[in-house]
Amino acid sequence: MSRELDKAREYEAGKKEQIPSEQKCVFHLTPPVGWINDPNGFSRYQGEYHLFYQYYPYGTSWGPMHWGHQKTKDFIKWELVPCALAPDTEYDGQGCFSGSAVEHDGKHILMYTSVYDRLQEDGTHKIRQTQSIAIGDGVNYEKLSCNPVIKSDALPEGSSVVDFRDPRIWKEKDTFYSVIGSLDADGSGQLALFSSADAVKWQFKSILDANGGRYGKMWECPDFFPLDGSHVLIVSPQFMRAEGLEFHNGHNSIYFVGSFDEENGKFHRGKAKSLDFGMDFYAPQTVETADGRRVMVGWLQSWDNYLTPEEFEWSGMMTVPRELKLKSGKLIQNPVRELENYRRNEVACRDVRLCEADGQRRLPGISGRVLDMTLDVDVRRASSFTVHLASDGDYVTTVSYDVNQGTLTTDRTYSGQRKDMICSRTMYVDQKDGCIRLRVLLDKYALELFVNDGEQAMTSLLYTPLEADGIAFSCTGEAVFDITKYDIIV
Ligand code: FRU
Repeated sequence: MSRELDKAREYEAGKKEQIPSEQKCVFHLTPPVGWINDPNGFSRYQGEYHLFYQYYPYGTSWGPMHWGHQKTKDFIKWELVPCALAPDTEYDGQGCFSGSAVEHDGKHILMYTSVYDRLQEDGTHKIRQTQSIAIGDGVNYEKLSCNPVIKSDALPEGSSVVDFRDPRIWKEKDTFYSVIGSLDADGSGQLALFSSADAVKWQFKSILDANGGRYGKMWECPDFFPLDGSHVLIVSPQFMRAEGLEFHNGHNSIYFVGSFDEENGKFHRGKAKSLDFGMDFYAPQTVETADGRRVMVGWLQSWDNYLTPEEFEWSGMMTVPRELKLKSGKLIQNPVRELENYRRNEVACRDVRLCEADGQRRLPGISGRVLDMTLDVDVRRASSFTVHLASDGDYVTTVSYDVNQGTLTTDRTYSGQRKDMICSRTMYVDQKDGCIRLRVLLDKYALELFVNDGEQAMTSLLYTPLEADGIAFSCTGEAVFDITKYDIIV
């Protein structure tokens, strides 16, 4: 083991003991210490699910990237595994960037972007991104002596030599495939598809898809998989232009549904759609479960808003893993069903009729900061309704629906965050027979909303002091609420 890796493992083990668990989320994966971004290497290995992530243990902002590591049997209870990769070689000394993993012949193969920075004789820096492999047993990983296994000279002529990253590896019959992001001669995103018989020697096969200057710049963190008879491509474009109420985050995650022409290595896609309309969601990755479900996890934070409180020694978390389905060409996302095993203390409030004169109504047994709550709201006689979360006299975050506009908004202006950061997001939401169904997952600082049985998701952070645990309901006109709330106890 290298000194770098040894140091990271020792440091995180020590900090895990020191940082109070009360400060951490209950059912969202958080790091033992330090900064995390993208999920990496989400994979099934020897009957357990492994999740690695971009990780800088020594501070709460981005630094030389390591791969942190946790594993789970049910996507809710995570177990810390020692840090898997550190930037400790000549070819990855600037960072072990994002990548993915696959099980093969009892081994766990990690494919990641190795970044180096070489000082040139003229004093300039040559920074390059290449792809490397590390093979392990679920705890310890050894980098191949022939790394890097793919360099940018394998890309079509004119492609950028600087941006080439985030390999997504998978295995089909006897062949490994990997799709990797880069930029074409016009500086626009493209995804190169490579194949290999042994995961060591790789051949360029095709450009799977190209951005054509349309959806942001670089397509970061691609994922590509079959689902319900189609193929789905997920990418996270940098610097994307907003359109109507969509793509406002600068860095967004989008998906395309289409078909895969395997012979020519081409993806034929439909329209771009937002994966999540909230303020904090990026770079998701999926895994196929033993029982055939496609499960996705995203980074529950954003490059565009840094909200972590100064006193925290950790920054960043992952969403609750979500089951994906395709319905009428749209991705349906719902929290993994395993979350329901951790529901406790059911409180049900049926047929709660509210009108404007009621103001903000609290309901017996409905409060808290760690919960799973479903609301069916009949809005036929309402012009709006609002759910007030994480509230006390000083703080509140609201989720409100405007019936005339048909829009749902999360607003965290009064959540206690820095005011120069993005405070609200809005999306169009259709009523179903005059009703809106809203599932609210609140886990201290994480707010994940699933609308109309997973047709849309909206995920945001709120770093409100934990004492603010009030929940209230209000409306204009008249609305009828059916509410079921559980505490989540892990
Ligand atoms: C996406 C990303 C990846 C890169 C990693 C570096 O969030 O920029 O493209 O591999 O983060 O941490």
